[in-house]
Amino acid sequence: MASRTAPARPQGRLAILLPGLGAVATTVIAGVELARRGLGKPIGSLALMGTARLGKRTEGRTVPLAELVGLPGLEDVAFGAWDIVNEDAWQVAKRSAVLPSAQLERVREALQAIKPRPGIHDPEAVRRIDANHVIAAKSHRARIEQVRKDIREMMRELGADRAVMVHITSTETYRPAGAAVASLEALEDAIEKNDPLLNPALLYAYAAIQEGVPFANGTPNQAVDTPALQGLARKLGVPVAGKDLKTGQTLMKTIIAPGLKARLLGVRGWFSTNILGNRDGEVLDDPSAFRSKEVTKTGVLDTILQPELYPDLYGNVSHKVSIHYYPPRGDEKEGWDNIDIFGWMGMPMQIKVNFLCRDSILAAPLVLDLALFLDLAKRLEWRGMQEWLSFYFKSPMAAEGLQPEHDLFIQLTKLKNTLRKVAGEEPITHLGLEYYGDDLPLRG
Ligand SMILES: NC(=O)c1ccc[n+]([C@@H]2O[C@H](COP(=O)([O-])OP(=O)(O)OC[C@H]3O[C@@H](n4cnc5c(N)ncnc54)[C@H](O)[C@@H]3O)[C@@H](O)[C@H]2O)c1
Repeated sequence: MASRTAPARPQGRLAILLPGLGAVATTVIAGVELARRGLGKPIGSLALMGTARLGKRTEGRTVPLAELVGLPGLEDVAFGAWDIVNEDAWQVAKRSAVLPSAQLERVREALQAIKPRPGIHDPEAVRRIDANHVIAAKSHRARIEQVRKDIREMMRELGADRAVMVHITSTETYRPAGAAVASLEALEDAIEKNDPLLNPALLYAYAAIQEGVPFANGTPNQAVDTPALQGLARKLGVPVAGKDLKTGQTLMKTIIAPGLKARLLGVRGWFSTNILGNRDGEVLDDPSAFRSKEVTKTGVLDTILQPELYPDLYGNVSHKVSIHYYPPRGDEKEGWDNIDIFGWMGMPMQIKVNFLCRDSILAAPLVLDLALFLDLAKRLEWRGMQEWLSFYFKSPMAAEGLQPEHDLFIQLTKLKNTLRKVAGEEPITHLGLEYYGDDLPLRG
């Protein structure tokens, strides 16, 4: 069966614009440059390496997702960035030491060509970085206007006719803007009054949406998870997604917790601790920045385990999360989880997980996927919150009154079925009764 409405692969170039040219951003850029030259594979990118089965299992039809919904290839993307520190992508990538020097050397020129534009800085939001590359304007409105102008100029310079912004700056201090972001009117008012609670992430997001540019929030910072910016995104027809990329320990949590829940094994406690030595770790050493992370990290278990439905199993879970800045490790994070579980007749058991991961290696493909999928959403004229992209986030968004979905496997099914629908194919339910004829009759 041929698909009816599969979108065509777009013509022209997509600009991926990154506020925050740090470890994650430069790892994405270097990886894309290496992959383009055939010097590496985009491992971890569902958009580029994933496939979907179509139709019945007997049909033998499995296609790459990129083909199914017409995603651009790596040769059709280009990068631009803002940062409050004046270093080009080569300097940052070398300093961050995520990819080995020999690999970076092969794309040195491409990295050197990416110089960030001055960023919006608020020393209260990001306290541990010596900012030397900051938008001079002092009012919120003027800073927003500067970012909007930058977007237009970067698109021109990059020869792009479409753009997506993926926000990947440092974690900001936890200072929710409250009433100022409760509605679009309140936000406009707060912008005019230079409300000090409006953090840079909110201002970048506002600027992107005003320019019709889809926005993904890779950080725990407050941005499009607010009624004000969701309202603006719907009004202007712009897709948005967030927040905080799901990598490392939270990724493991959303893999393991659904398994325990599937077998109805009880959980008494989940103790998670990390050591991390990159700049992200340094920023998170500030307790008020860590608070932003803590909020996105701890919501996960409750929504997966559903203590309200299973009070005997999950009614009293003690969940602790901590991150320690430990410079010798650089980007090579080490996470320990101790999970106290119980089974038949309440007998206790323990699971220990020791994940020696590379933070930015796990995050890079997510940034690329979000850019490609949000660009697709824009081409489909979808607007507002994109719940189908929950797969990528520690703290996914959902429509008012709905619990966000945290289970990685439900998130993946949601994403792939959305893409099947986009291509005019049937979603897959995994029911499978149809293969057994009269052996499994459904009566009534
Ligand atoms: N690495 C991961 O696995 C991962 C996972 C989830 C989320 N994140 C989030 O991604 C973000 C970036 O992580 P990273 O490891 O690349 O950190 P990083 O410190 O290497 O990079 C952040 C960059 O943002 C810049 N910056 C800070 N405030 C800015 C502003 N207002 N405007 C422009 N630039 C600004 C900093 O100068 C720095 O270059 C963090 O918020 C982190 O919490 C990372």
